[in-house]
Amino acid sequence: MSRYRRASLGSGSGYVPGEQPPDGPHWIKLNTNESPLTPSPRVGPAVEEAVAALHRYPHPQGEPLRSALARHHGVSPSSVVLGNGADQVLESCFRAFADPGDAVVLTRPTYSLLSVLARLSGARVVTVPLDDGGSIPEAFATIPGVMRLLCNPNSPTGSWAPPAHLTGALAGVDSVVVIDEAYCDFAPESCVPLLADHPNWLVVRTFAKSYGLAGLRVGYALGHPDLIADLAAVIETYPVDRLAIAAAAAALADQAHHARIVGMVVSERERLVAALRGAGWDVIPSQANFVFARPPRGDAASVAIELKQQRILVRHFPDGDHGDRLRISIGTPEQNGALLAAIGIGV
Ligand SMILES: Cc1ncc(COP(=O)(O)O)c(C=O)c1O
Repeated sequence: MSRYRRASLGSGSGYVPGEQPPDGPHWIKLNTNESPLTPSPRVGPAVEEAVAALHRYPHPQGEPLRSALARHHGVSPSSVVLGNGADQVLESCFRAFADPGDAVVLTRPTYSLLSVLARLSGARVVTVPLDDGGSIPEAFATIPGVMRLLCNPNSPTGSWAPPAHLTGALAGVDSVVVIDEAYCDFAPESCVPLLADHPNWLVVRTFAKSYGLAGLRVGYALGHPDLIADLAAVIETYPVDRLAIAAAAAALADQAHHARIVGMVVSERERLVAALRGAGWDVIPSQANFVFARPPRGDAASVAIELKQQRILVRHFPDGDHGDRLRISIGTPEQNGALLAAIGIGV
């Protein structure tokens, strides 16, 4: 840290993502909730075609991807804003809706980036504990704040609240509500159909998980055009580049491939949960592409280290209330089999 750093940032190092080892077949990577399958085969040719126009800036609002997403979700293009990953969209929410000193309400636990973004924006974080069932406590709606953010399904727990529950729990809230649906394609239902009745809600989505495009960096928000205009006013000028627009549009058009990724993850999730529980692990019911599980002896840290020695990466969060659990992304059948074998569970 230099002596020139803005004092209000403190000495923190920002968001710490899961380890990214060098690409290649040497690691089984179950630590950052990426797709175990590669993206649609349509992506490569679309990117190749887009290369010819790289001397031109991309469309500032990410067309034609924005309109394709609007059609996909049954909303107008003015209800969609694209960003360089869901992370940038989330950052834009803080820029657009929280002044320094304003309170923002988060669940506990939640996606750990959110408190980092709050610190960067100078907002004050108020947290409300979530139970493992994922239902939203009353305080989440009633504590004063300019913005409330929740992940549904949640990370790192994987717990999920049905949209009808959110409608009831958030009735009467008059601040911005951001629902991060990064993992929603692995869950039964989305909140997107509820946006028409909730002009203060934003739903954030990503191509990183269920479309297998974490390396591309494309996310978006859906919501009332006025909220979307607020986000567009603070996001960078060309948030999504031409290659990413072309690739994401090609992936979106290949819903059969998307369904293959989701189907495999969901069936493997059920297999992994059953195997872990059968061996005495405590697994929170998950509607995401990962599970949050406590080994029978509660020795999560040493299990993570032992797995790493066998070149299997899982995520351990030593700080906070859940240091006794591991977040394990769902892999291919072979990867999950290797994980189970490595922790001594026969399949
Ligand atoms: C809840 C949640 N939202 C957003 C993201 C990041 O999405 P993106 O890769 O599109 O920035 C993650 C990544 O793990 C996440 O867990």
